[in-house]
Amino acid sequence: MALLKNVWHAAAWSQEVGDKPFARTIANEHILLYRKAGGSIVALNDTCPHRFAPLHRGKIVNGEIECGYHGLRFNDKGACVHNPHGDGTVPKSAAVKVYPVAEKDTLIWVWLGDPARADKAAIPEFPWLNETDTYDFSGGHVMHMPLAWDLILDNLLDLTHGAYLHPDTLAPTPDLRTETNLRRDGDRVYSLLSTFDAPPPPIWTATGAATGKVHVDTWLEMRWDAPATFFLDVGVMPTGHGREDGNALPTVHIITPETEETSHYFWKMFRNFSRGNPKVSEVMEEFATRAFQDEDRPMIRAVQERMAGRDFWEMDPVLLPTDAAAIQARRMIKKLLKEEADEAAGGAARS
Ligand code: FES
Ligand SMILES: [Fe+2]
Repeated sequence: MALLKNVWHAAAWSQEVGDKPFARTIANEHILLYRKAGGSIVALNDTCPHRFAPLHRGKIVNGEIECGYHGLRFNDKGACVHNPHGDGTVPKSAAVKVYPVAEKDTLIWVWLGDPARADKAAIPEFPWLNETDTYDFSGGHVMHMPLAWDLILDNLLDLTHGAYLHPDTLAPTPDLRTETNLRRDGDRVYSLLSTFDAPPPPIWTATGAATGKVHVDTWLEMRWDAPATFFLDVGVMPTGHGREDGNALPTVHIITPETEETSHYFWKMFRNFSRGNPKVSEVMEEFATRAFQDEDRPMIRAVQERMAGRDFWEMDPVLLPTDAAAIQARRMIKKLLKEEADEAAGGAARS
């Protein structure tokens, strides 16, 4: 699928970016990130305008990036401020693109599109990531996936695949008593799946959140914001109890496209039970990594290969009631892509 520019893309976890150059490719743009002495983040295009060296191969000098090839230096506004050659005159055309950037809830976000539209209030909020009194956290992960971002989106908004793809890790067996619910809050989509009166799925017994001796009810509620930003609230409680008696294992999932075919998969899982127990943290990490890397990834990759670059809608997919959330998201993304294409065409016509 085409890539959106006029959206906030998650670029890194806060802890990934320090006072050294850090590079990540997002929606086909090479981005350089670094942190200035006061802690603020700089986001510049990562290609030197002289001989096109990746700037991240250079070094930070007094809050400015010095190209590692011939030493041109650029400030946090992308302006060339130092030329060590000839009489030192800075060539007028020597500048790199600067991107709007924001740090919020332990994530760094960049805006690749029209800077005038970069409204920081539009960044999806993840207040849980700051609630260190309530939760123990996994480290922030970024998996490089050879997968198109929209196919991972389909996977995450489809809460029913777990019973078939994750029976040994995350999910209950098929054919349980379930309830599903879909709701919209503006452009935000929520998809809920509840299961009732069943043995707990493997991750719950392995982490000790459920004993396996009593049946449980579970809730999974996925929140989606465009383009591919997810919060999964998930928990388990003894059958017949309310969520307030439950153990919760929520997860943040954010998919940032690298190219049309590859993605960065940011995730962090956290729990409100067995706090301070490193063994439980290890089990959480192991189960989640297995599920995403060894179960979701090969299946989505196989789908991508089978689709062979063809458009989802043009392939005329069979739609099930459980596809409703993903379909709503796809329709909204299609609209955003059309708006960007129309704007680009209008701009091209005017120029
Ligand atoms: S390529 Fe950067 S200064 Fe020459
Ligand atoms: Fe999955």
